[in-house]
Amino acid sequence: MPKLLHMICSPREQSESSAAGRMFVDQFRQAHPDWDIEEFDLWREPLPEFTGPILDAKYARIDGRGFSHEERDAFAVAERLAMRLALAERVVISTPMWNFSIPYKLKQWIDVISQPGLTFRFDPATGYLPLLSDRPTLVIIASGSDFITGMNRGRIDMATPYLREALRFIGIRSVQFVPVGPTTGPADPIRDARDNAHRRLAELASRF
Ligand SMILES: Cc1cc2nc3c(=O)[nH]c(=O)nc-3n(C[C@H](O)[C@H](O)[C@H](O)COP(=O)(O)O)c2cc1C
Repeated sequence: MPKLLHMICSPREQSESSAAGRMFVDQFRQAHPDWDIEEFDLWREPLPEFTGPILDAKYARIDGRGFSHEERDAFAVAERLAMRLALAERVVISTPMWNFSIPYKLKQWIDVISQPGLTFRFDPATGYLPLLSDRPTLVIIASGSDFITGMNRGRIDMATPYLREALRFIGIRSVQFVPVGPTTGPADPIRDARDNAHRRLAELASRF
């Protein structure tokens, strides 16, 4: 059964990004009733701290040496997390913008799965090679301010270019971004932004 993986990256009950993501996934499910939908809440499921044996395992790979028992066990956690992504034919990442970028849980997940020999490899002759196959991926980013143009009052959206590059690095190039914002401030612009984003997502869901 093909799988869609929905990564929830906001810890909030009233999350705009989670609501938009779930709305999209519901529409997708209606159009694709035979698909398996897996929700991965980064705030509810454990992620390893990137220190100790999992960190040493990364350097073991970089230095081309074998793993200790501890490093192998720690690396297996990264393998399982990367496998959840690798086995998904479609990916939805719904995330807040936090301090112009992404929440630390999403960054932590990226740090854990971005491992040599797992999601990318380095060849001195040819450089970095991604190891995951490309797949349609949707990133929904909710922000308090309106970052639809990539800027707001001189502040730059660094979440979008960062995620585009981090996903491209491991092989996922077919990424569409849908911003939801402003989500704070006066009620009318919030409602308009939400309606516009949801309309766009509903259109995307049938051909994702
Ligand atoms: C720690 C933190 C940092 C934030 N930083 C920004 C920011 O840099 N730019 C912005 O427009 N909004 C920022 N916000 C507001 C959130 O982006 C906004 O509330 C958004 O709706 C959060 O997504 P969610 O509704 O899915 O939780 C921040 C909120 C928090 C809690």
